[in-house]
Amino acid sequence: MLSKLDVYLNGKFLPLAEAKISVLDRGFLFADGVYEVIPAYGGKLFRLQQHLDRLNSSLAAIRMEPVMSDSQWADVLNKLVEPHAQSDQSVYVQVTRGSGSSRDHQLPDDYTPTTFAMCQTIATNSLDSIAKGIHAITLDDIRWDWCHIKSVALLGNILLKQQASDQHCTEAILLRDGFATEGSASNLFIVSNEQLITPPKSHNLLPGITRDLVLELAIKDGVRCIEQEISEQQLFDADEIWLTSSTKEIMPVIELNRQAVGNGQPGKLWEKISTRYSQFKTQLRNQQHD
Ligand SMILES: Cc1ncc(COP(=O)(O)O)c(C=O)c1O
Repeated sequence: MLSKLDVYLNGKFLPLAEAKISVLDRGFLFADGVYEVIPAYGGKLFRLQQHLDRLNSSLAAIRMEPVMSDSQWADVLNKLVEPHAQSDQSVYVQVTRGSGSSRDHQLPDDYTPTTFAMCQTIATNSLDSIAKGIHAITLDDIRWDWCHIKSVALLGNILLKQQASDQHCTEAILLRDGFATEGSASNLFIVSNEQLITPPKSHNLLPGITRDLVLELAIKDGVRCIEQEISEQQLFDADEIWLTSSTKEIMPVIELNRQAVGNGQPGKLWEKISTRYSQFKTQLRNQQHD
């Protein structure tokens, strides 16, 4: 049985304190790498295939090959979460282009990737407090143009989130050319005239796994869903605003730029779809392992 401190690094399971990488690692020097965050409920990885597909498309976008097969990933990640099956976990996976013999911007012809994974407990009390509704602000998106890549270069996201936090808000909703694209660490939905609207996938936003599941659940429930650009005005006029991510799930925004959204409470459609989301998680928890 693995100890709770075990992490995975380049083919080995190790105690956290023994997991070491070179200071010449390109992930450290250039943020030359990509990552995933995968929840696990009752020891079962949530939407693993979708996360692995996105990992591989992020790798392809930065000109890297897949580091292992999907079944090898499943094996590694299941070994990490199994000892923690009694609590909800988020598994962090990071792959970088590894280290060369010196610091050099040029992509190496040959490289040995650094592959790392660890898990940590998802705090359920933070989810309970999110369900009461969060406050958000709008900010100009100062990030680069390839936001579809789940890059470890998160300084833009971090500084934007900090600006929100400085104003006692949980998230920043980002604006690009007059349109709201996503949150600093989440995807965006609005409810307007009983329609659920989310921006289409593009280079302006991360193709969120939670986003896709929310759309699936809403469509199944007969909700009218459209993937369409959301103007700044539409955002301010929305009846409901939601922000979604793997670890924060579906966050109802009850205040935007200090103004109440709708009646200032989590909306009716949010209640319905977040219930469906919880049921989906419960089903996964209760599934038998293969
Ligand atoms: C910028 C950004 N957009 C969207 C998301 C939501 O993605 P997912 O639902 O796959 O967690 C995240 C998650 O971290 C994110 O960082």
